[in-house]
Amino acid sequence: MQGFYYSLPASPPQTFLATFTTFQDCQVPFLITPILFFSLVLLLVVLLLLSIHQWRHPKDKLLPPGSMGWPYIGETLKLYTENPNSFFANRQKRYGDIFKTHILGCPCVMISSPEAARIVLVTKADLFKPTYPPSKEKMIGPEALFFHQGAYHSMLKKLVQASFLPSVIRRSVTEIEQIVLKFLPSWENTTINTLQEMKRYAFDVAMISAFGHKQDLEMKGIKQLYQCLEKGYNSMPLDLPGTPFHKAMKARKLLNETLRRLIQNRRENEKQGGGLLGVMLEAKNQMVDQLSDSQIADNLIGVIFAAHDTTASVLTWVLKYLHDNGDILEAVTREQEGIQRKIIEANHRLTWDDTRHMPLTTRVIQETLRTASILSFTFREAVQDVEFEGYCIPKGWKVLPLFRTIHHCADFFPQPEKFDPSRFEVPPRPNTFMPFGNGVHSCPGSELAKLEMLVLLHHLTTSYRWQAVGDKDGIQYGPFPVPKRGLPVKVSPRKIKAA
Ligand code: HEM
Repeated sequence: MQGFYYSLPASPPQTFLATFTTFQDCQVPFLITPILFFSLVLLLVVLLLLSIHQWRHPKDKLLPPGSMGWPYIGETLKLYTENPNSFFANRQKRYGDIFKTHILGCPCVMISSPEAARIVLVTKADLFKPTYPPSKEKMIGPEALFFHQGAYHSMLKKLVQASFLPSVIRRSVTEIEQIVLKFLPSWENTTINTLQEMKRYAFDVAMISAFGHKQDLEMKGIKQLYQCLEKGYNSMPLDLPGTPFHKAMKARKLLNETLRRLIQNRRENEKQGGGLLGVMLEAKNQMVDQLSDSQIADNLIGVIFAAHDTTASVLTWVLKYLHDNGDILEAVTREQEGIQRKIIEANHRLTWDDTRHMPLTTRVIQETLRTASILSFTFREAVQDVEFEGYCIPKGWKVLPLFRTIHHCADFFPQPEKFDPSRFEVPPRPNTFMPFGNGVHSCPGSELAKLEMLVLLHHLTTSYRWQAVGDKDGIQYGPFPVPKRGLPVKVSPRKIKAA
């Protein structure tokens, strides 16, 4: 896993390993002395015996097929040496859609059929709880909804969903457009790092959706502290002076104080300023008389986190695919010019309704979500021994629905490696397209993410063109898979051909 969400490892998959090391919040010692050597051998023997017992005789029930590899390290080394995509594909071919493996300390069951993924995420969701490294909980805040199941989760989910409903976010189109119109001229005739610029854009939108439009004094401080916090998200969880994790934790504490001040101010004001914060301040229900300051703070940070890198990474891929597919870019531009003409004739600004009349641009976004599959999989943990499709998944094992593998399966998406938005002219088979997850923990921000992308593409395609600088191909992981070096591009004003 990288950060909060999960994606595929780089090749070689250091980030993936970092994920699992951070999952355990442990480090492997590297200095071998004779005493250490014998202790290690002894430890290995004990682990071997334990694992033979644990893996071969789990209460005499049938485990899914697959190899658990070596004790403790499991199949981790194989992930080092194989391309991660073929790691999953080879095992799926050999063992089927459900197989077991063991990655650095975690026995895992990987799931690559839509039906089985649905069982884990939807129909039997209560048997599979979300699971995150403890360091992530510390940084985001343990009361954020991601980390919970049951009544507390569903109470918070309703609040978050309520602030991202189409009927609510349709009022933000003008604000989002203003952000776009602030960024675009600053890109003109310069080389930008697409990922970094998209992160700045997605961050500004996330701040509005979290705090509303009211500009409190604390806002600048919150932005700066969040940026320090962010640097620690994918670092080793070593809380020692000078480490990125330590700095991030310090920023998190200060962020708490600043957020508390802001929350107090807003509680005292009659008008609570909108956004998710406004919704949470007004919330009173059977479960809580009022949400506490720390519940509110953890969920604000959680939502900014969830909204930010995800949307920026997908937007970076959209620009890459449009860059590489000139005919699709021209078709999208024609669609957007049609909207532009209507806006000029009616003398109004871009509206929510306009964004509902962008079918081709919407399909480009859908196909990008499928092809790039920035969240390659998610993690759950079995809360008890679970009978699953004829197998037993023992309590405590991690269960990974593999979104990317499903999105790249030729049975559901013929010629899966081809970027072809027209495939979405027909709705995909149920449960085969899950860029925003599925079930109780599915993404409440999907409509906002799509809206941000549509508004940006409207202005970008009608007024600008972009040319990749340097190496055109390759992927990097930071934390999600994105085009290499964040896709540097030279942006220039679009030359409109005379009719
Ligand atoms: C293209 C951008 C985005 C993608 C691909 C994406 C994807 C996802 C996925 C796959 C999940 C489910 C994770 C799981 O089941 O373990 C999720 C959850 C979540 N997302 Fe997003 N997301 C995006 C943008 C956003 C935005 C803009 C927001 C906020 C406004 C947001 C807020 C959340 C929250 C709060 C959750 C946790 C829900 C829960 O645990 O009940 N996401 N997202």
